[in-house]
Amino acid sequence: MPTDSLIRNISCLVQTEDVAALKVAGTLMSHINTISNSFLFIRNGLIHDFGKMSDLESFLVSVAGSEYKIIDATGRYVFPSFCDSHTHIVYAGSREAEFTNKIKGMSYEEIARKGGGILNSAALLHSTTEDELYRQSIIRINEIIGLGTGAVEIKSGYGLNPEDELKMLRVIKRIRESSPLEVKATFLGAHAVPSEFKGRQEEYVDSVINEMIPLVASEDLADYIDVFCDRGFFTPEDTERILMAGIKYGLTPKLHANELDYSGGIQVGVKYNALSVDHLECTGDAEIEALLQSDTMPTLLPGSAFFLGLPDPPVRKMINAGLPVAIASDYNPGSSPSGNMKLVQSLACIKLKMMPEEAINAATINSAYAMGLSTTHGSIARGKVANVFITKKIPSYEFMPYAFGSNLIETVILKGEIID
Ligand code: NIG
Ligand code: FE
Repeated sequence: MPTDSLIRNISCLVQTEDVAALKVAGTLMSHINTISNSFLFIRNGLIHDFGKMSDLESFLVSVAGSEYKIIDATGRYVFPSFCDSHTHIVYAGSREAEFTNKIKGMSYEEIARKGGGILNSAALLHSTTEDELYRQSIIRINEIIGLGTGAVEIKSGYGLNPEDELKMLRVIKRIRESSPLEVKATFLGAHAVPSEFKGRQEEYVDSVINEMIPLVASEDLADYIDVFCDRGFFTPEDTERILMAGIKYGLTPKLHANELDYSGGIQVGVKYNALSVDHLECTGDAEIEALLQSDTMPTLLPGSAFFLGLPDPPVRKMINAGLPVAIASDYNPGSSPSGNMKLVQSLACIKLKMMPEEAINAATINSAYAMGLSTTHGSIARGKVANVFITKKIPSYEFMPYAFGSNLIETVILKGEIID
């Protein structure tokens, strides 16, 4: 039986909606609704009602006779949990040796060309059992739960052969079944060309299309299909072939695009109705125009741009043009070894010059949209899943991205239950 809860004396309830939107774009991104001195009532794992403390007494008449737990949130803020719509959180080992090579001046692309990078993680994953991979990954999953994430998208892409890609996707399935997080799975067979296919990229693309996609679909292991469409990785032509095959098997596209170059990835994503195109450091007028004609969510990954020292995407230009923007962590061992969405919000504000309100919308409702969850997650709305966190005592919501190094999350509630 789920526990019903009343959170009362909330200093400020953030991101409330009376009429839930699927996403917010343009100037609307700089607006969020808040209710000060408020309450939130959770029933059967869902947000049942919320309002001003002055209306609590009359609300309580409607739940009289039922049992519920009372949580006092004096001085504290309540936010909807973060939705992290782009991660590679299932991986084996770590890559801090590359980190030190980068400090000495090697670029991400040079490391990849020398067989490091993604191929390094693929070799580690190959020699790791499914159980061990789950054990390593669930530690990171529990870490991000404590950091306020309530829904996460997880990609494969360190297998790069049918057996190891399935191993990764089965681990993602186990995480979905065993953790209180909402999990979406993405098949990313085309993350890099494995060494055994060196010089034979087209044959590897054939293997993704003819061997891997049918297997993934037959075990129903993925919701989405992704391709690393960029300079030195997969071309727009490879990407089109893979997306068409994925769509035939019911997989919706989400793309890695325009991180390293004006690669055409954004336009391919828009052409195939991608749910999101992600990274976008290289976004110009043509890319913005294409996105404006689409339902695709432009998703920025400020953690990896920061970690790799990439030029920042032109987010002000994108929002001013009327686009929505989501942000996600890209948690992975090579370009963003952190799943801390509060820190990602700080980077979005400090580096990309997003306003705190924009960063909140980007990490909640828009990121929920980018993983197909915005009808059930991403804001405080009646009937949505009760995924929220209660902060420590803070003076304002702007304090969250401002205090970039402090963990200010005190209580995590997922599907209505307090997570210890
Ligand atoms: O999103 N850009 C491609 N893939 C990952 C990095 C993966 C890795 O280096 O392990 C990313 O940054
Ligand atoms: Fe990524």
